[in-house]
Amino acid sequence: MDSCEESVDGEQQRRRPAVTATAMATTISLFPSLSFFFFTFDRFTEMVSTLTCELPNVFGNLTNLEFFIANSNFFSGPLPLSLALCSKLSVLDLRNNSLTGSIDLNFTGLPSLGMLVLASNRFSGPLPNSLADCHQSKILSLDKNNFTGQLPENFAKLQSLLFLSSSNNSFVDLSRALSVLQQCKNLTTLIFAMNFIGEEIPKNVSGFESLMVLGIGYCGLKGHIPVWLSSCKKLHVLDLSWNHLDGRIPPWIGSMENLFYLDLSNNSLTGEIPTNLTELKSLISTNCCSSNLTSAAGIPLFVKRSQSSNGLQYKQASSFPPSISLSNNMINGTIPPEVGRWKQLHVLDLSRNNISWRDHAQFHFGDAELGIFRLVIQ
Ligand SMILES: *[C@@H]1O[C@H](CO)[C@@H](O)[C@H](O)[C@H]1NC(C)=O
Ligand SMILES: *[C@@H]1O[C@H](CO)[C@@H](O)[C@H](O)[C@H]1NC(C)=O
Ligand SMILES: *[C@@H]1O[C@H](CO)[C@@H](O)[C@H](O)[C@H]1NC(C)=O
Ligand SMILES: *[C@@H]1O[C@H](CO)[C@@H](O)[C@H](O)[C@H]1NC(C)=O
Ligand SMILES: *[C@@H]1O[C@H](CO)[C@@H](O)[C@H](O)[C@H]1NC(C)=O
Ligand SMILES: *[C@@H]1O[C@H](CO)[C@@H](O)[C@H](O)[C@H]1NC(C)=O
Ligand SMILES: *[C@@H]1O[C@H](CO)[C@@H](O)[C@H](O)[C@H]1NC(C)=O
Ligand SMILES: *[C@@H]1O[C@H](CO)[C@@H](O)[C@H](O)[C@H]1NC(C)=O
Ligand SMILES: *[C@@H]1O[C@H](CO)[C@@H](O)[C@H](O)[C@H]1NC(C)=O
Ligand SMILES: *[C@@H]1O[C@H](CO)[C@@H](O)[C@H](O)[C@H]1NC(C)=O
Ligand SMILES: *[C@@H]1O[C@H](CO)[C@@H](O)[C@H](O)[C@H]1NC(C)=O
Ligand SMILES: *[C@@H]1O[C@H](CO)[C@@H](O)[C@H](O)[C@H]1NC(C)=O
Repeated sequence: MDSCEESVDGEQQRRRPAVTATAMATTISLFPSLSFFFFTFDRFTEMVSTLTCELPNVFGNLTNLEFFIANSNFFSGPLPLSLALCSKLSVLDLRNNSLTGSIDLNFTGLPSLGMLVLASNRFSGPLPNSLADCHQSKILSLDKNNFTGQLPENFAKLQSLLFLSSSNNSFVDLSRALSVLQQCKNLTTLIFAMNFIGEEIPKNVSGFESLMVLGIGYCGLKGHIPVWLSSCKKLHVLDLSWNHLDGRIPPWIGSMENLFYLDLSNNSLTGEIPTNLTELKSLISTNCCSSNLTSAAGIPLFVKRSQSSNGLQYKQASSFPPSISLSNNMINGTIPPEVGRWKQLHVLDLSRNNISWRDHAQFHFGDAELGIFRLVIQ
């Protein structure tokens, strides 16, 4: 268990609490029938991140383990292979550590795994095919690692999957990823921001009938806003910002009944704002919007980065402010007077386009009645 790098000075070493890998191994050997293992450092000691420990490979006897939660520690090294023997494991949450290497765990032995949270580590390499054997999987959170390659074809078997968030990795082949995931009929949230850099946005997609949140911004994607999105009738949140999409804003977006957060900023869109966009039901009347969006066990969604800070992070999609952001495109024409209908809108950003608003007086922006809290036009 000498896997801790003791690269801290003497004072800090003396203050090192008796947790870490040794404690974990001891606990496990004392209580082999543990079913819930929540492991956390004493946050009040001033531990420095240069002190890191590998997760001990001692899980082989924990055949009753259902929950293993050890997020926000300083664990490094690979995923211990013995976890594959915890056949009752249903939640594995190791987010926000410094784990590295490719995922070599054989997931076939984990048929009950419903939630896998590996976000904010330093994993690399492709996702293992065996992950698709976790038929009960509902939540996969893989953001902020360096996973590479294509999404495995057999992920189509993940029929229970509700939530897949995988921003800021190095995945390739969006076309294949979507043709695989369109078969996951229950998928409600899909976040793929910061992957598939410079690819073409695929045109021949279908399915996604359950999708409520789609984020594929920050990918430099090329092409037009694809028409298949119009059949995602449940879409509430759509983020296609920071791509290279061109062509016009399609009028059918206005008929997406649940859409209340639309971010098309920083693309190369042209033409005028279609009047149909002002028909967005969720922005016109109350009691629709976000009420049906549920969070995935508190896993934050990274939707977009604001100009100033590192990230706007919303705990759950239902707390997104109702928004239309079209900034930084090449949109021209005038603002349709009908935007006055958007009584539920909180943010309207039309800046950095070529939109003239000579008739703005008639929209009564800023009326108490109109719910806009942030309006950026130029
Ligand atoms: C598992 O249990 C057996 C029998 O009690 C013991 O000999 C072995 O060391 C344990 N393995 C681990 C990894 O703790
Ligand atoms: C990540 O872990 C560190 C160390 O425990 C903690 O200080 C930090 O708040 C955690 N970050 C998040 C986003 O949980
Ligand atoms: C993974 O484990 C299963 C049994 O759980 C076994 O049948 C399969 O051969 C293993 N796969 C690999 C690649 O070791
Ligand atoms: C991610 O992995 C790829 C391929 O191994 C490598 O080229 C790239 O530098 C890595 N990116 C980061 C941020 O580590
Ligand atoms: C998909 O969702 C429906 C409705 O929530 C549910 O009845 C069904 O069991 C889910 N399918 C799977 C495979 O989890
Ligand atoms: C993306 O991941 C890299 C490391 O893989 C990290 O340095 C960078 O801050 C991340 N970006 C965001 C916006 O999270
Ligand atoms: C869409 O077309 C690409 C190539 O043109 C193909 O690889 C992909 O499988 C197609 N997807 C679907 C869902 O048909
Ligand atoms: C727009 O996106 C590009 C990448 O596609 C990025 O380099 C640039 O900084 C972004 N501009 C603004 C104003 O956000
Ligand atoms: C745009 O709105 C008009 C008038 O409401 C309607 O007739 C037309 O079908 C709409 N077009 C689309 C593509 O939704
Ligand atoms: C939202 O939930 C209500 C009741 O829970 C349901 O009647 C309605 O159809 C749902 N809307 C969508 C778009 O799923
Ligand atoms: C708006 O831009 C389109 C091309 O993108 C052009 O055809 C049209 O004339 C422009 N309209 C105005 C009012 O400038
Ligand atoms: C902006 O639109 C005006 C007409 O409304 C036109 O004269 C001007 O050239 C346009 N500017 C750009 C950068 O397209």
